[in-house]
Amino acid sequence: MTTHQKNNDRAVFATKFAAIATTVGSAIGLGNIWRFPYEAGIHGGGAFMICYLAFVFIIGVPVLCAEFCMGRQTRSNITGAYNKLAPGSKWHLAGYIGILASVLILSFYSVVAGWTIEYCVSSMFGSLDFSDRETGHEQFMQLTTGWRPVVWTVVFLLCNFYILMRGVTKGIERASYILMPLLFILLVAFCINSFTLPGFTEGITFLFSPDFSKIDASVLLGALGQAFFSLSLGLGCMTTYASYFNNNSRLGKTAVMTATLDSLVAILAGVIIFPAVFSFGLSPEAGPTLVFEVLPFIFNQLPGGVVWSTLFFLLLFLASLTSTISMSEISITFFCEEKRMSRKKATIVSSLIALFGGLLCALSFGPLSNFTIFGHTFFSLFDYLSSNICLPLGGMICSLFVGWVVDKRVIRNQFTNGGKEKFPFLRMLVFCLRWVCPTAIFLIFLNSIGILTL
Ligand code: TRP
Repeated sequence: MTTHQKNNDRAVFATKFAAIATTVGSAIGLGNIWRFPYEAGIHGGGAFMICYLAFVFIIGVPVLCAEFCMGRQTRSNITGAYNKLAPGSKWHLAGYIGILASVLILSFYSVVAGWTIEYCVSSMFGSLDFSDRETGHEQFMQLTTGWRPVVWTVVFLLCNFYILMRGVTKGIERASYILMPLLFILLVAFCINSFTLPGFTEGITFLFSPDFSKIDASVLLGALGQAFFSLSLGLGCMTTYASYFNNNSRLGKTAVMTATLDSLVAILAGVIIFPAVFSFGLSPEAGPTLVFEVLPFIFNQLPGGVVWSTLFFLLLFLASLTSTISMSEISITFFCEEKRMSRKKATIVSSLIALFGGLLCALSFGPLSNFTIFGHTFFSLFDYLSSNICLPLGGMICSLFVGWVVDKRVIRNQFTNGGKEKFPFLRMLVFCLRWVCPTAIFLIFLNSIGILTL
């Protein structure tokens, strides 16, 4: 953590900017560039996009505000935050869902982050083949099946571990101030390139023109899960980060800015991927492998493709690291504060758990590919369970908790920084937290009972 000030022995970010940068760093990652296009692809494009954006702003922003409020008020880990605000109650049990889900997410996320390192290294050494249109899928298979993904998953988890252990989070945050805008510029450049592709119109139509008849239970649940995943919501990640915000940070503004930037990056990724999918005659429904199969085609098209691809995968790897650091932070602060472990021990314990989960997920593409539970491999089961069930459930509990249990004066105090700032949306926020968010999430769950049987 950026530890410029000490406050009751707990680190606090020195500036408002650091608070925004770390929150955005957590939110922007593989969720936007890898998960969003593949989810949009399997769920019909435009129909998914509209639901996703609606959920980000109607449900995501209020829940983000609720998590911020809990974190900064209590300056605690997720279970500690529930305990401090409602001592002696059972609310803190929701924190355990968050801790469990954070480990599940870290497991499959590391596998995908491992692919990005492998693609980066392969393109640097010239072994990623850009010459031939037919090779996207084959290359993916070659690079990611068998035992190879295990190696890269472990490499990624070691990077994550090293950063957490050395406490060099500050370094990675500084680096990300420069590198994340660079990633953004690169995305804009690829986006402009999309205009020149023959499938541009088809791709854009697929992504932006909603066919409302396609909106069914699975689209709604998928979009809700994606909104939560992308905003790092529902398992106390943002509560933990907000526990380090300083007292001048504006919670409402930070929430809206995070949601806007995060969805902007997801849309950019969509505009890059779908025109290419249609130009090269691929199927948008390829699933988790979509982006990795399509990107080489795009690089192939560009002059100096190798340089673009190396740079892109390097930046994507760093964006993933800033996200996994935030995920790891949930269980580490929990072990430190609730189980009284040293930070070092807490880091080792949570990294070992993630390593075990990561291995199961990595092997899902090779030796364990035939081992399925309810038709899912470990990889897709962990993704489905955490994103579509644990995150919205955690978000619903947090929303009900802040809306109904937390004293309104506490909420007002947090959003006005003790009366120093204006916050005209307080009543609307509380209304959303009490009624809109929980009801919407509940209805989507109810509607999907059929598909929730996995
Ligand atoms: N939001 C990140 C992404 O889009 C992933 C992430 C980081 C996350 N922390 C989280 C997802 C906590 C859920 C919960 O890549």
